[in-house]
Formats: sequence, structure tokens, C-alpha cells
Amino acid sequence: MSEMIEIIVDDKTYRAEEGSLLIDLLIREEIKVPYFCYHESLGADGNCRMCMVEIAGQKRPQIACDTLVKSGMEVNSKSTKIEKVHTDILELELINHPVDCPTCDQAGECSLQDLYMDYGLHDAKVTIVDKVKHDKKVDLGSNVMLDQERCVLCARCTRFTDKITHTHELGIIGRGDEAKVSTMPGRKLDNPYAMNVVDLCPVGALTSKDFRFHQRVWFLQSAESICHGCAKGCNIYIDHNKMKYQDDVIYRFRPRRNDAVNGFYICDEGRLSYKELETNRLESMLYDGVVVDEHEAIAQYKSLLTQYQGRVSVVIDANLYSEEIEAIVAYAERIGAKVFAPLECYNDPSFADDMLKSAQRAANYGAIVKMGLETNMPSDAGLIINFNHPTHFNAEAEIHFSTHKQESNALLLPMAAFSENSGSLINEVGLEQWCEKAVEKNSPAPTVLSWLEKVEG
Ligand code: SF4
Ligand code: SF4
Ligand code: FES
Repeated sequence: MSEMIEIIVDDKTYRAEEGSLLIDLLIREEIKVPYFCYHESLGADGNCRMCMVEIAGQKRPQIACDTLVKSGMEVNSKSTKIEKVHTDILELELINHPVDCPTCDQAGECSLQDLYMDYGLHDAKVTIVDKVKHDKKVDLGSNVMLDQERCVLCARCTRFTDKITHTHELGIIGRGDEAKVSTMPGRKLDNPYAMNVVDLCPVGALTSKDFRFHQRVWFLQSAESICHGCAKGCNIYIDHNKMKYQDDVIYRFRPRRNDAVNGFYICDEGRLSYKELETNRLESMLYDGVVVDEHEAIAQYKSLLTQYQGRVSVVIDANLYSEEIEAIVAYAERIGAKVFAPLECYNDPSFADDMLKSAQRAANYGAIVKMGLETNMPSDAGLIINFNHPTHFNAEAEIHFSTHKQESNALLLPMAAFSENSGSLINEVGLEQWCEKAVEKNSPAPTVLSWLEKVEG
């Protein structure tokens, strides 16, 4: 680590590591600085010129993203001169912008809109008809759509494919007014992390085909959660909305920064896994394929438990929250059942890579290991009580708490998915993380804990 030094920004003294980027200090200290092309995971590119500041002793304004902090440096980020620079550069960025914010999915979370309100507010010198036209609907592949007219040519997307995925599908072609983002000839954007360019794009040029035109972002509520796609434990936001009289619906997962786990990114498969929470859900209690009410279901539950007393095995899905697993283990002890958490079925080497994706596809893998549960398949079971484990077991009878519909003669009892409940998970390297409850359904399925209360009541 370099020496800590002091610099002055807008007449206030700050401490920073010598040789670190000035823009990092400004962002960290929440000193307002406009920027498009800089991103902490991609580094400086210096192409947008929005992040200009004045530095004492320098004749011309300098870009903060390519300026290294030095002891005694004096920076001015708010002078009349520098604000004029920001306004003028923004006007240049907007010169050919189509101004189609009302139909743009980025509206509400767009840097261009925000910066226009902060630094722009100028009248357009170029009319809509005189603006240079580009293609507004370019299918790049991998669920990503490009609107070339909205692009500010910050090169975040191209740098992502160069520096992060090393797949090099994107580039900027042409010069001046004709410059535009494009895939390389004969190629499509095609890598398992491609949709991260949608989050990286500071404007509405790159949108997700899956999300576009489905929901205005200002209607969305965000819950902090953890992806359940594998044991990596990537941090996500669950963006959902409950429209009046309708059900609470998840519209997207987005990456949530955690430098200890996933940095700024998630894989596309994890990102799109929200759909599983919205489809094919088990909503009724069934016994032998016939819908039963709760009274009947609990009576049947108790009758099966009595019938198979001494020959009961409990099976636990390694995606359940730790609090649920602990409660199930304690319950199994009370009813004299053996506990199993078979892990074999979650092992998927074809999914793994050296970026984020893990071959171990159970979100709470770490808790199963930490608790020392039996991970083999249950044997010689009379009755299996299955808490959402994906495997079908051979047993004389089965009670199955399930988030999703099953082809089964078992006593099937619907349960809440992870997004409808809160709890903690331990990832593959032993890191414990908390998931907030996101969704409140109109007719919520009971959680594991409330089911245990019902069947023991
Ligand atoms: S498409 Fe978005 S991320 Fe890519 S260069 Fe244009 S503005 Fe930047
Ligand atoms: S790497 Fe695993 S935890 Fe991370 S987003 Fe993908 S599936 Fe989810
Ligand atoms: S953020 Fe500094 S030039 Fe773009």
C-alpha cells in the first residue's frame, strides 16, 4: 500500500493513497463529479471528458479519471469555469441524442438524464430532424438490444468484453458522427456474462430483451438478496412490483456489488433464474393427485407419521435458509426421524467456469457442510418427508413440501420460495450472507417455519 497523503478538494482536506485515481476519491467522498466512461471495474478510458476538474498550477482542466493523486494537490470541482466545461461537453454528448426518454427503459436510472438536470438544462441547437440517425434496434445476441442513437460511446461495453470476459465480441466502428458500437463481423454477443453490459451502459443504449418495455423502473422496489443459482453466493437485487389489485411480481435480478464475492457482476443464467420463481408454482395442497384443504392435509400428515413411526426420514434441500434447516433438524429429532441432505444432484461440472459460476449448485452448500448433515441418499425409508429437495426418492410414502408442481401421488404441500421469505445462506467458501424478503404474494404459500408450527400444533 502506498503512503497516505493529503489533498484539498473544494477547500476541504482529504486523505488518499498517493498515486490513486482522483476520481475514486471524488466518488468515495461523494463529491459530485459527472462521468460516463469511468467504471471502477474497467478503469479509466478518458474518452467521455465529462469528469473535468481544475487543478492548481495546470493551465487547462484535467480529467479526474486519469489524474493521480499527489501530496498537496489542490482541486476545484465546482468553479463557474468547470461547470461551463461540464455543460458544454454534455451538450456535445447530446447533440445527436434522439431524446426518446418517454419510451426508453433506462428512464429513471439514466446518467444522461441525471446529468442533464444537474449540468445541462441548455436549449438544443440541433433540431430533431437534423440529428444524425442510427439503427435503433440492433439485436446484439445474448438477450441484449442496442439502440445506437442513444449511445454516448463511453466504451464500457466494449471494454467489458475485452477486459472482463476476454471474448472481444464488441467494438466501436466508424468515425465522428458515424461512430457506433457493433459486434465484430460475423459474431454475436455470446458469453455467459453478456447481460452485464446492460448494467454497465450508463444510458439506455443497451437494454435487456427480457426486461425492456415490461415495467417502468420507478415502480420497482428492490430487496437485497443472494442468487440461488449456485454456491458462489452472488449478491443481487430482486426488483419487484405489486400493482394495485395484482400480485407481487419479480421483473428482474440485478447484480449488487460485493467485492468479496461477485464484484459488480453476475452470470446470465443466475440473472434470469428469477423466472423459475414465477412459473409452475405449486399453489394447492394435493394428496394422491386430488386437491385437499388444510384441515384434511394436516390430518393426512399426522396419520402418515403415526403409520410409519420409527421408519421416517427427513430430506432437506440445500437451497433452504440456515434458519429453516436448523428448525427442520430440531423437528426431525422430536419425531425420531433420520435427517439427510443429499448433495450429489447439485453437482454440475458443465456449469462451472473460472469467473463466478460454481459446479456446486446449491446456494446453502456451506451450511450443510458446517452442520455436518448426512449427505448420502436415504435408504430403507418407510415415509420420506421431503423439504423441497429436487430428487424423487423411493419410499413407501412421501410428504413433499414443494415450491413447484410435481408429478406425484405424495401429500404435496406448497411452500414459499426464497424470494418470499428471509434468511441466511453460507456459500461454498463459508461466507454467511443475509437475504431480505422481497415478495409479498396475495395468497402467500407458508414458509417452512410456519408449516412446522401447523403440523406440530
Ligand atoms: S452502448 Fe452504452 S456502454 Fe456501450 S459505448 Fe454506448 S453508451 Fe457506452
Ligand atoms: S455465479 Fe452462481 S450465484 Fe453467481 S449469479 Fe451465477 S448462478 Fe448465481
Ligand atoms: S469518466 Fe473521465 S473521461 Fe470519462
